[in-house]
Amino acid sequence: MTFKPFEEEGTLIEDQFMNWNKMIVPPYDKNSVDAYTRTRVILMNGIENNSVLTSHAIARMIDNDEIKRQLALIRRVDSQQQQTVNWLTPANQSVVETTIGYEQLAVDLTANLARNEPDDYFRQVLDFALIEDFDHLFRYGCLMEILENKDPSSITQGRTEVKPGRPTEIEHRHPYDEMREHFNKDTASIKTKMNYHTIVSAEQQTELFYKSHGFMYGNDLARKLYAEIAEIEEQHVSQYELVGDPNETPLERMALIQLNEAYNYYCCAQTEPDERIRGIWEEFMSDEITHFIMCNELMQKFEKRDIGDILRADTIKPLIVLEPNKDYVNHVIDTQVDLQPYNMRFVRTDELPSDWPSFAFREEMNAGGVPSEDVVKRAEKIVA
Ligand SMILES: [Fe+2]
Ligand SMILES: [Fe+2]
Ligand SMILES: [Fe+2]
Ligand SMILES: [Fe+2]
Repeated sequence: MTFKPFEEEGTLIEDQFMNWNKMIVPPYDKNSVDAYTRTRVILMNGIENNSVLTSHAIARMIDNDEIKRQLALIRRVDSQQQQTVNWLTPANQSVVETTIGYEQLAVDLTANLARNEPDDYFRQVLDFALIEDFDHLFRYGCLMEILENKDPSSITQGRTEVKPGRPTEIEHRHPYDEMREHFNKDTASIKTKMNYHTIVSAEQQTELFYKSHGFMYGNDLARKLYAEIAEIEEQHVSQYELVGDPNETPLERMALIQLNEAYNYYCCAQTEPDERIRGIWEEFMSDEITHFIMCNELMQKFEKRDIGDILRADTIKPLIVLEPNKDYVNHVIDTQVDLQPYNMRFVRTDELPSDWPSFAFREEMNAGGVPSEDVVKRAEKIVA
C-alpha cells in the first residue's frame, strides 16, 4: 500500500469549517475501543497540534500579509480538526489510562518509523529514543497499579510489552548531549521528511500532555513522575527536531507539514476498524490535500518553485501502521540499551569519557531520589 497525494481529491477550503455539532462528536467507548484506535486519536491530535503551533510560529516571523492570511485560513481548519480528534477521548478515561496510550503510541509508532526509515542516522536516533519511551510505559504502568489497582495491559490489550527498557533514571542528560546532526533537504527522501514531522509532532504532544496533566494528581509520587518523564520528552523533542534541515524555507516546511497530515490521515483510514472514526480520517485527509495545494501555490507565487520539484517523488511508501512490534523492540533493547549520545553519535556507556556532561547533570537531577525508581518499588509492594 502506498499514498499518492497528487491523485487524491481535495475538499474546497470554504467547505471545511464545521459547526459545533459537527466538530464535537461522541467519544469512543474506552472499554471496547481497539488499543490502536486510541493511539491513532493521540497521534492525530499531536499531528494537528504541531501544524497549528508551527503555523503560529511562522506567522510571527513572516512580514507578508497574503501568506499570513492564507496560513490563518488553513490553521483555523487544522484547529477545528484537532478538536474533533482530541474530543474523541472519553471523559471517563483517566489521565494515567490516556498516558499508557501515549507511551504505547510512542513505542509502536517509533518502531514502525524506524523499521521503514531509509536514513541510517535518523533510524539510529529513533531506535535510541524508542528504548526510553518503552521504559516510560513500564513506569507509568507501575503508577497505574498504585493509583487504580489496574493492570496496564488492560489498556495496551497485550499488544505492546510492559517491562523495563533503558532505565528512566539514566535517561537524564545535559542539554548539550541532545545535539544531533540534520539530514540534507536536497537529498533526503520524502519518507524521511514525513517520518521527521510525524515523530516531532508525537513527541511534542507527549511533552505537552504530561505538562498539562501531571499536576492534576494530588499524589506526590504521581506529580513527580509526570514531571520527571515530561523532561525526558523535552529531550526527545530537542533531539528529534534537530534531525530536520533548518535550511528549508518556512513555506516549504508548511507544505511538508500539510502533506504529512494528509499522509497520516490516509494511513489511519487504511487501518481503522471503527467505521465512524474511519469516516473522520477520510474526510480530514481530503481537507489536508487542499491545505497542501494552497501552501504549494504560495511557494509558486513567492518563491517561484514547485513542491513537486522538491519532493522528487509522487508516492509515499510504505504506510505508517500501528501494530505490535515485540520482536523488533526486544532486538533493539538487547543490542542498544547501553548506548548514550556523545558528540552527536551513539556510543557504548563504557566508551564515554569521564567528563561527559550528562554524568554531572544526572547526578544533580537524581540527588534526592528518583520518582521513576520509587514508583517501581511502591508498585512491587502492592502486587506482593
Ligand atoms: Fe489538519
Ligand atoms: Fe515517553
Ligand atoms: Fe518520547
Ligand atoms: Fe492541515
